[in-house]
Amino acid sequence: MYYIGIDLGTSAVKLLMMDEKGHIAKIVNKEYPIEFPHPGWSQQNPEDWYEKSVEGLKELTTDIDPKQVAGISFGGQMHGLVILDGKDQVIRPAILWNDGRTVKETDYLNHVIGKDKLSEYTANIAFAGFTAPKLLWVKANEPENFARIKKIMLPKDYLAYRLTGTFCTDLSDASGMLLLDVKNRRWAPEMLRICGITEEQLPRLYESYECVGTVKKEIADELGFGSSVKVAAGAGDNAAAAVGTGTVGDGRCNISLGTSGTIFISSDKFGVDPNNALHSFCHADGHYHLMGCMLSAASCNKWWMDEIIGTKDYAGEQKQIEKLGENHVFFLPYLMGERSPLNDALARAAFIGMTMDTTRADMTQAVLEGVAFGMRQCYDVAVSLGIQIDRTKIVGGGAKSPLWRKIVANVLGIKVDVPACEEGPSMGGAMLAMVACGVYKDVESAAAAIVRVVDTVEPDPELVARYRDRYREFIRIYPAMKPLFHQN
Ligand code: XUL
Repeated sequence: MYYIGIDLGTSAVKLLMMDEKGHIAKIVNKEYPIEFPHPGWSQQNPEDWYEKSVEGLKELTTDIDPKQVAGISFGGQMHGLVILDGKDQVIRPAILWNDGRTVKETDYLNHVIGKDKLSEYTANIAFAGFTAPKLLWVKANEPENFARIKKIMLPKDYLAYRLTGTFCTDLSDASGMLLLDVKNRRWAPEMLRICGITEEQLPRLYESYECVGTVKKEIADELGFGSSVKVAAGAGDNAAAAVGTGTVGDGRCNISLGTSGTIFISSDKFGVDPNNALHSFCHADGHYHLMGCMLSAASCNKWWMDEIIGTKDYAGEQKQIEKLGENHVFFLPYLMGERSPLNDALARAAFIGMTMDTTRADMTQAVLEGVAFGMRQCYDVAVSLGIQIDRTKIVGGGAKSPLWRKIVANVLGIKVDVPACEEGPSMGGAMLAMVACGVYKDVESAAAAIVRVVDTVEPDPELVARYRDRYREFIRIYPAMKPLFHQN
């Protein structure tokens, strides 16, 4: 039988189909647009997600008997606000995880309600991209839309709703709404009051590997599926990617270089960063995790290559890079502001330090290094909490670059394990579907049976030392520039 993982990403939906043993039968990618209606805002049309996912499902199963599909699940871009009215119509475009419009609402939550209270209620503080500040934004700026809200959901939950008719979410993704009492795995009544919503407007909570229903008959018929294809709740894309790299159980680490950049540390026990620089969320394995999230990671390189240099030959550009650790150019990767650990929606990207002999390769290198330095800042927060990390897995589009993997290993000074498949969230989604279908008894057993590491990048002590010095310079740039970012 086959199991499908749907990674509902920011630039595309990625669908992966595998058998019980984890052999990948096919991967399909379908892109959709993203709107930036104002600088720092980002929106998408949920209908595009659904249409492209159904197209993707058809293409994915062309070479097999679709009746062989037993289960489906998801990894979804987190924090996005999807609101439906009483007729199940989408009220406005979804406001995405990297949208920075909620500066005022985030300030209100952190400074009027107070970070201590938020952390007590939810184990987290407000960040501009989280869902609760977006609800407050809609309430203040689009009161007629707010009044029509019957259902509030996250992006992948919209797919589950369309496919099964079940109004559901999972605990890992719900953690990023700032509406969940993460420790006790239930909605936080204080937060619902603050946002002016009721529990009836929120989806029912499931563990990521629980079955929420089966694919509706008319959709199953259209796809040629059998009548009982199980759908599991799925997870936020980072938790799903962690499942796909075996970052489950206690004390394991995964780095994702996707549109966002994240460092994800799995934990058996609930824990909070006392400064809330790292998010404290439920994990898809039934436990917890800490996570730092940079809003722009592989997207910095994509922007630099596609929009500025004007090339698709990423590997060719990276071949010109020769001297690691000796670049005189720095890049601040804050193209969409920054989440962890700065929490500054008004931060902006910058190149610093160019001279007349600066080359295009130096600038490309600075982009790759700037993202790794940002990741190091998140890593340092974890280390300051006493968490020991001496190795990590790596996934996401950026992880395809051997050079970028090497830079990450040396900037962080830890071993980087490369899994056989870098499609973290879709692979994790397929594994969650297998657990829901009873192929594996739990997420940890699925990971133990399926995940394989094919390479390890070892840090080189000399390069680590050179990067340590460069990093010390890097972390002085943002505080010096912050007054400029905030001057208006
Ligand atoms: C995590 C986050 C991003 C998105 C990207 O908190 O905001 O990683 O999930 O899809």
